[in-house]
Amino acid sequence: MTCLSFLCGRRSNLSNELTGVDNVTLYTYKELKIATNDFSPANKIGEGGFGSVYKGKLRNGQMAAIKVLSAESRQGVREFLTEIQIISDIEHENLVKLYGCCVEANQRILVYNYLENNSLARTLLGGGHSSIYFSWQTRVKICIGVARGLAYLHEQVVPHIVHRDIKASNILLDRDLTPKISDFGLAKLMPPNMTHVSTRVAGTIGYLAPEYAIRGQLTRRADIYSFGVLLIEIVSGRCNTNTRLPIDEQYILERTWHLYEKNALVALVDTSLNGDFDGERACRFLKIGLLCTQDAPKLRPSMSSVVRMLTGEKDIDEATITKPGLISDFMDLKIKNDPKPRHGINNNMSSNFNSSGSDSLENTTLTSASSSQATMTFTAVYDKSM
Ligand SMILES: Nc1ncnc2c1ncn2[C@@H]1O[C@H](COP(=O)(O)OP(=O)(O)O)[C@@H](O)[C@H]1O
Ligand SMILES: [Mg+2]
Repeated sequence: MTCLSFLCGRRSNLSNELTGVDNVTLYTYKELKIATNDFSPANKIGEGGFGSVYKGKLRNGQMAAIKVLSAESRQGVREFLTEIQIISDIEHENLVKLYGCCVEANQRILVYNYLENNSLARTLLGGGHSSIYFSWQTRVKICIGVARGLAYLHEQVVPHIVHRDIKASNILLDRDLTPKISDFGLAKLMPPNMTHVSTRVAGTIGYLAPEYAIRGQLTRRADIYSFGVLLIEIVSGRCNTNTRLPIDEQYILERTWHLYEKNALVALVDTSLNGDFDGERACRFLKIGLLCTQDAPKLRPSMSSVVRMLTGEKDIDEATITKPGLISDFMDLKIKNDPKPRHGINNNMSSNFNSSGSDSLENTTLTSASSSQATMTFTAVYDKSM
């Protein structure tokens, strides 16, 4: 483990890149190799769109999640370290701590605090493969914690950060089941009062706000949409998309909206709770999920309002809930038109994809053609529907 300022003096080839980047802990490749037992498959704890994650023990005895970014996600050292510095400065109870990174040669490796209880995707939504019981109280704590973490990124960090990939596998759980939002690899800074042009749209299909998925419009409100989907997943204990269910129940937002219209939201609450939950509060959480996923981004509440609604400090105005924006309509069209599964979009809809897009607080435009097959497929679907 080395501090950048120290390294500058030692390694001339890196020194130019490192000028002005302070206080980021740098790990040597050798150290991370030892920590993970040569990146042994036995220590691999996950694989995401940006590379593999290994469990490892650092020299100081601390456990770490070591994320080896794949070749496609490699940036220049300087650009990479600039982002890393921003991320490593952020500390919040509900955000995963980044310890540091390794930038030796072509390697881009992130070293995070290791969370014992894995992710919500593997546990709560993992199809019964976890021994953790998520009581109603635990779910309330998780929903509020995630909302607080996201509100912090959106409203306290300056410039604001849009996460871009809020989803169950990015919500990690510590020993006490306190939720921590992970993966700031996709997060980009949003300078206040100016348009920030980024080079990619990133995210996971079942959680993507339609305006972001289809038009590349990335704002904090796209994260709020994803949070709404996640909130409903936590209350219902099911994934946003489940093609094994009857057709009218496959997409969680469609199902939630239908039940809301029938005044029967309570039917969506996870049956594994065996009725041991606060029905009024659970329905309130589901309505907040609907508020967050409304089609018009402007109608979605800010994350700090969401926190106050979840805690009961703020009332929710039911009269204002409008129908959710559903990209599942486009997915249906794709399945009808193209029976062959394609790389990048699959049934569990958990693929990451990239295209060119742009960031701003409210208004954005698509800047150039899509760059990945998954997005091109998606664009084609969109075109067919117009
Ligand atoms: N800090 C961490 N502590 C424990 N497990 C982690 C940590 N970071 C990631 N993981 C595990 O590795 C998996 C892959 O992570 P990632 O590469 O971010 O992909 P994704 O978020 O798309 O699943 C996660 O789903 C999680 O199970
Ligand atoms: Mg992740």
